[in-house]
Amino acid sequence: MIAAPPCDAFVLFGATGDLARKKIYPALYQLVRRGGLEIPVIGIARGGWNLNRLQAHVRSSLEQTDGFDEAVFARLCALMRLVDGDYRDTATFGRMCEALGQAQRPLFYLAIAPSMFAAVIDGLDQLPCAAGGRVVVEKPFGRSLASALELNETLHKVFDESAIFRIDHYLGKEPVQNLLFFRFANSFLEPIWNRNYVESVQITMAETFGVEGRGAFYEEVGAVRDVVQNHLLQVVANLAMEPPIGEGGEPLRDEKIKVFRAIRTLTAGSLVRGQYRGYRAEEGVAPDSQVETFAAMQLHLDSWRWQGVPFFIRAGKRLPVTATEVLVSLRRPPQQVFPDTIPAQSNYVRFLLGPRQVAIAIGARVKRRGAENVGHPIELHVFNTQGDEMEAYERLIGDALKGDATLFARQDAVEAAWRIVDPVLDDRTPVCEYSPGTWGPSEADEMIRAVGGWREPLAAA
Ligand code: BG6
Repeated sequence: MIAAPPCDAFVLFGATGDLARKKIYPALYQLVRRGGLEIPVIGIARGGWNLNRLQAHVRSSLEQTDGFDEAVFARLCALMRLVDGDYRDTATFGRMCEALGQAQRPLFYLAIAPSMFAAVIDGLDQLPCAAGGRVVVEKPFGRSLASALELNETLHKVFDESAIFRIDHYLGKEPVQNLLFFRFANSFLEPIWNRNYVESVQITMAETFGVEGRGAFYEEVGAVRDVVQNHLLQVVANLAMEPPIGEGGEPLRDEKIKVFRAIRTLTAGSLVRGQYRGYRAEEGVAPDSQVETFAAMQLHLDSWRWQGVPFFIRAGKRLPVTATEVLVSLRRPPQQVFPDTIPAQSNYVRFLLGPRQVAIAIGARVKRRGAENVGHPIELHVFNTQGDEMEAYERLIGDALKGDATLFARQDAVEAAWRIVDPVLDDRTPVCEYSPGTWGPSEADEMIRAVGGWREPLAAA
C-alpha cells in the first residue's frame, strides 16, 4: 500500500563514484527508458568536474550495455545537473538547494563512503529544501551493531524512519523475491518446509573475481560485513520466515525480523575465515591484512519450524565460479525399500539466484533402466531463465521514488542482523589462506561434512 507522494527530484551524492557508474546511472537510464523518470537528477561530487564530463562518464558506462539507445541517453542527460563541492562545506548544500528549485520531496541517494554519511546528513539538517525528502543509504549500514545504532541516530536527526531507505540490492533481485513467491504462492512446499523434512540448508555466494580495485573499501569490511550481514541473511530470512499476516510491506518486514531474532549469535568457533593468496598484494590492502575474503558459518535458528536444522552459509571471492545458490536438502526416506544406497542430499530443492542464470530445481532419485533396482539422481527443473543484473537497482530506486519501503531494510532488522555477526567481527577467528580458484580453506568443509558436504552451484557451467 503506497500512500506517500512520489519524489520530485533525485539527488545523488557520490555522482562521480564507482557505484554510481556501475549501478545507479544504468538504473536511472532504464527508468527513463520505461518512462518512469522525468524529474531532475542532481549529482553532487567533489572532483572539480563539470556537467559535460559527468555526462561523458555516464555515457561510457551505459554504452557497454546491450541495446544502448541515444535517444534515451539524451533524455537522461536533459534531466542531469551537477553541483561540485565538498560535503563538509555548507556552500555545497546551498548550491544544491538552488539546483533543486521548487522541488519539495527530493530523494537523497548516499552513494558515498560510510565515513561521509554523517557529514552529508549534517549538511542536510535544517535545510528547507531537504525537509520533505527521503534518503537512500547504501550498505553496509554501519560497521557493527554499535555503529549502526549511531548511524540510525544520525539519520533520525533529519529523517523520520519512514523516509529512510536502507538499500540492500539483494532484496530487489527477482530470484530473491521469487523465493518468497515460490514458497507462499504454492501449497506443496509448506508441508515439508520444516524441521521434520528438511535436513539442512546451505547457501553459497561464490565469485571468481577478487576485490577488483576496491581493496581500500574491502579492508574496512571483509566478507562478513560485505555480503553475509546483509545479502545472505536476507536470503535466509526469505527461506525461513513465516507467511506475513496482512498486506503491504510492513507485515513482511515484521516476519523477517522474527527470523533474525531466532538466529543464535555467532561465536568465533562457528566461523571459518579465509583469505585468497594474493589479496595482500592488492592495491589499498595492508601487507599483513587479516581481513577475510571468504567466510563459512553455521547458523542455528531457535524457532518452532527450524529447531535443529543447520543453515550453512559460505561466501567468497576468487572461488571457482560466480553463482549464488541455495540448497534445501530433505531427509532420507524413513525406510530402505530398494537395495539402492541413497546418499545424503538426494532429495532437495535448489534455488539458483544468478547472476547469469536463475533456476529452481528439485532433486530426486529415479530407477536406472534395467533389471536391477538401482537408482540415479535426476533434477526436475521447475523454472530456468537468464538473469538480469540491472534489475535490482532499477526496481529499488523506482520504489524509493514512489515511497514504497517494502524491499528496504528496516532499522530493527538491520540491528538484529548486526547482533548475529557482531561477536565475530574482530580477528579472533584466525584467517586461513586459500589458493585462488579453489573453494576456500579446507576447514570450511569440516563443518558441513555430517550432512553431505558443500554442493557446488550447478549454475556455473
Ligand atoms: C556487493 C558487494 O554488495 O554485492 C560486492 O559489495 C559483491 O563485494 C556484490 O561482489 C555482489 O552483488 P551481485 O548482484 O553482483 O551478486
